[in-house]
Amino acid sequence: MADAKFSSPNEEVRNRPIGVFDSGIGGLTVLREIWKALPNESTIYFGDNGRAPYGTKSHDTIVQYSVQNMHFLLSQNVKMIVIACSSAGAHAHEEVRRHSGVPVIEVISPGAEQAVRETRNGRIGIIATRATVGSGLYREEVLAAANRLTAAGERREELAALSIEQVACPLFVSLAEEGYWNSPATRMIAEDYLSGLRDSGVDVLVLGCTHYPLLKEVISDVMGPGTRLIDSGASVAGRIKKTLIDSELDRSAADPPCHCFFTSDDPEMFEHRAAPFLGGGRPSGTRYVTTDKFV
Ligand code: DGL
Repeated sequence: MADAKFSSPNEEVRNRPIGVFDSGIGGLTVLREIWKALPNESTIYFGDNGRAPYGTKSHDTIVQYSVQNMHFLLSQNVKMIVIACSSAGAHAHEEVRRHSGVPVIEVISPGAEQAVRETRNGRIGIIATRATVGSGLYREEVLAAANRLTAAGERREELAALSIEQVACPLFVSLAEEGYWNSPATRMIAEDYLSGLRDSGVDVLVLGCTHYPLLKEVISDVMGPGTRLIDSGASVAGRIKKTLIDSELDRSAADPPCHCFFTSDDPEMFEHRAAPFLGGGRPSGTRYVTTDKFV
C-alpha cells in the first residue's frame, strides 16, 4: 500500500487542506488525532451520514460512494485524502489511490501493525464491520506486518504462530452514531459480540472500525484488563505526518489553519454529535452536501 511521492510541490499546494472522509462521525476519532499530531494543518471533513452505514453495503456500493467522496474532496482542493473508515479502506483504497492523484492514507494497515507490535501471546482479536471482516484485509495486513517484523530481525516466538480471530459487530456503528456510548443496551450487545473473543484469550483487540473508539469504555470493561485495545487513530496520524514530510507537503503558512465540515445529512445533528469528540466545543458552519453528483 505505497503512497504517491511528489517532488518539491510549491507553497500553494503545501498550504492546501487535508481531506478526510468517513460514513459518518466515526472518522472524527481519526480527525482529532490528526489535529493533535499536526496542529498547523488545515482539514476538510466529510461525513456521509445520509448514506451510512457503509459496513453493511456491498463491495460495489462502497467503492462507488468512496470514489464520489474522493471527487468531492478533490473539488475542495485537498492535498491528501485520508479514508477514515475501515469499510471504505478495505474495499476502495486501491481505487481511490489510483484515481486521486494525491497521497491516500487508509486506517487498516497502521492498526494491524500496531497489534503485531503489541501482542505478547500472539493472539490477536479484530472487531470490525461485516464489510471489513469479509474483505479479509485485516488478516492480510496482520500477517504482512508480522513478516516485516520477522524479516527485520524481531525473532519473537509468538510472531511465528499468530492466531487471528475476527468478529463483525455491525450494531456498534448505530450505537455510536446514536450516542449510546455507555448504555446498558450497549453493554448487553457488547457482551454478546465479545464473550467468545474474551474467552479465547486475545491479548490485543483491534478496534477495526473508526466508530468503535466511541464505545471504548464498554468494550474494555467486557474484555477485561488482560486485553489491550488498539485504536489506530494515533498511528494513522503518525503515518500522515511522515507522508507529508517525505513528500514536502507539510503546511508552511504561519497563519492559523482552517477546519471545515460537510455532511450529507442534517448539519445541526452532525454538529451536535461531533461536539464531544472535538474537545474545543461544538464545530460550527457545517455545510450540507451530497456527493453522488461528484463523478
Ligand atoms: N467508521 C466506519 C468504519 O470504519 C464505518 C462503519 C459503517 O459505516 O458501517 O468501517
